[in-house]
Amino acid sequence: MRIRRFEEVDAVVVAGIIGRCLRETNSRDYPAEVIERMCAHFTPGRLVELAGLREMRVAPHGTVSRDGNKVYTMFVDPRAAGKGIGRALMAHIEGLAKAEGHAFMETGASITGHGFYRRLGYVDVRESETEFGLNYILRRPLG
Ligand SMILES: CC(C)(COP(=O)(O)OP(=O)(O)OC[C@H]1O[C@@H](n2cnc3c(N)ncnc32)[C@H](O)[C@@H]1OP(=O)(O)O)[C@@H](O)C(=O)NCCC(=O)NCCS
Repeated sequence: MRIRRFEEVDAVVVAGIIGRCLRETNSRDYPAEVIERMCAHFTPGRLVELAGLREMRVAPHGTVSRDGNKVYTMFVDPRAAGKGIGRALMAHIEGLAKAEGHAFMETGASITGHGFYRRLGYVDVRESETEFGLNYILRRPLG
C-alpha cells in the first residue's frame, strides 16, 4: 500500500473521508451536534493548516498524522474499512517515531476508535475530556 505525505491537492478528498467517517461511523457514539462540530472543524483549509503543524500522511482511502510520538486524525473511509488500511497507516507512523528514538507511541482515541487501538496493542493510560467529549489516552511501546 502506498503511503505518502499529504499535499494541498489532497485536502478536499481527505476532508470528504473524515466527514464520511464522522457521519457514518463516529455518529454511533456521539450526538449529532458533536458530529457536526467535528465536521465543521475538519475543513479542507483546516487540514492544510494542520499539515503545516504535524506530519500528515495519506493512503488510498485513509489518513493519519503525528507530532513526534503523538497520533492525530486517524481516519479510514467507511467504504474501505476493515481492509488493514488503519493498521498500515499506524505501522507507518510508528516506524517514523521509532526511527526518531521515541520509546512509545501515544494516541487520543474517540469512543469509536478505542477498540481499534486496543487491537493494535495500545494500552489505556488515562481518560481526558476534550471539546468533543470523552477521549481515551493510550500508549504502545516502540521497542
Ligand atoms: C478506526 C479505524 C481507523 C479503523 O481503520 P480500518 O482500516 O478499518 O482498520 P483495520 O482494517 O486496519 O483494522 C485493524 C484491526 O483492528 C480491528 N478493528 C478495526 N476497527 C475496530 C474497532 N472500532 N473496534 C475494535 N477493533 C477494530 C480490525 O478488526 C483489525 O483486526 P485484525 O487485524 O485482527 O483483523 C476506522 O474504522 C475509522 O476511521 N473509524 C472512524 C474514525 C475513528 O474512530 N478514528 C480513530 C481515531 S479516534
